Amino acid sequence: MIKRSQTYNTKETLVIFLHDTPNYKQLAEIDPELSTLLKKYTKAKKWTEKTSQVVQTTAEPTAPKIVFVNCGKSADVTEQSFRKLAGNVVRSLSKESSVQWAVVDAISDWENHLAQVIEMASYLVPNQKSKDTKLPKVNHKILSKNKSFIDEGIAVGQAVNHARTFANQPANVLTTTEFVKQIKELLKGDDRYKVTVLNETQLTKQKMNALVGVGQGSKYPSYLVDITYNGSEKDHIAFVGKGVVFDTGGISIKPSRNMKEMKGDMGGAAAVVGAAWAAGQLNLKRKISFVVPIVENMVSADAQRPGDVVVASNGTSIEITNTDAEGRLILADALVYTAKKNVDCMLDIATLTGASIIALGPYAISVMGNNQNVVDQLINHSNDYSERCWQLPLFDDYKDLLKSDVADILNANEGREAGTITAAKFLETFVGDTPWAHLDIASTMSVSSNKGDQVKGMTGAGTRSLISFMKHFKK
Ligand code: BES
Ligand code: MN
Ligand code: ZN
Repeated sequence: MIKRSQTYNTKETLVIFLHDTPNYKQLAEIDPELSTLLKKYTKAKKWTEKTSQVVQTTAEPTAPKIVFVNCGKSADVTEQSFRKLAGNVVRSLSKESSVQWAVVDAISDWENHLAQVIEMASYLVPNQKSKDTKLPKVNHKILSKNKSFIDEGIAVGQAVNHARTFANQPANVLTTTEFVKQIKELLKGDDRYKVTVLNETQLTKQKMNALVGVGQGSKYPSYLVDITYNGSEKDHIAFVGKGVVFDTGGISIKPSRNMKEMKGDMGGAAAVVGAAWAAGQLNLKRKISFVVPIVENMVSADAQRPGDVVVASNGTSIEITNTDAEGRLILADALVYTAKKNVDCMLDIATLTGASIIALGPYAISVMGNNQNVVDQLINHSNDYSERCWQLPLFDDYKDLLKSDVADILNANEGREAGTITAAKFLETFVGDTPWAHLDIASTMSVSSNKGDQVKGMTGAGTRSLISFMKHFKK
């Protein structure tokens, strides 16, 4: 516990998280006057030991605001509940100039969580309003000596925000070419990163016809961006992210309702690039490749048709049953490309199937893979930063649904059964022997209102899971 750095005669707001039975001794260590104040509130029945309660001092001109937050019974407090409360408090203080934060009777790793939440909850969606609506930035300070936990939390929160900013930009702004430019911009000036961009001519030369086929209806070119971060040579892992800057569905066109959400169909790529940025911030000591295929799936006279057959870069022929199952097509070639680097494991992440929304709703990411060790580490470490991944099966029987009469495989099954699994089953065909897991983030890619650390719009889903995984993965 560290002492509050200012006296009462400042404009600084102080937020203190407590359990239902306040620990007055710890409270007094932050500032002796706080104990007295809280006792006064208890007497006046303002602090009633109820859960999730926020008590705020009445504004006296000379006194700063003090916010006591009751987290509830200590046995019931989870990272999730703590983050939800903290995020809502961050938002409620968006008009303050300076806020100090303290947690009494801490939950484990609270500095990290709190720092993440402060970054994430105060995130502003980029907008093009003609009048500037921005408030001045709040100066936040966490009262703790664990500086490294705080710094980690800040980096993780900001990485999520980078991912959100990519995904929140409309597709006429974040075109394929602009996305490539912004990725380079984000990582420039740090020579641990090597960024290679393959353009359409190079992609065609490398026989990535599945990838190129998806982008052929767009006036913007397709790309594959390969970022290698080299923090050491001891092992090599890779992340691959779906980067569809807009998904109309192509000739198998989507209904217009909610179609604008599809500007976020590069959420997987955004998470991968956010994680790439975080690798440098956290100074990770390993080699990591971040691979993002970038295309736009449009309707045009040049667009791919249902019934077309394309041959991917590993020689597998694919019959296109549905041009709206485009994500797996671009990932197929990107996975073949990445597996050739002989990585120790690879994860791919994608806003891949509407079916995963039906399966899990907005509270969990679907995970499947060919290697239980990789899947387990992913699921366990996603919890470190309060994301939730849930495994679905990948039984071989599901592949029967992808049998084609004219090619090696269909890109999508005709029926609606097990859409999330058959998509993963399709991807599995392209990973070979590489230990691999797949995250389907369609269910968590966006939220419709502000809540806890979430801000209305694209969520940056999966970014935290990727960061935690690359921090901890062991062969
Ligand atoms: N990008 C979509 C998946 C999606 C849908 C994400 C809704 C978020 C919200 C993906 O490209 C897609 O269209 N998938 C199809 C696959 C189907 C044609 C087999 C789907 O889920 O409907
Ligand atoms: Mn689609
Ligand atoms: Zn898509």
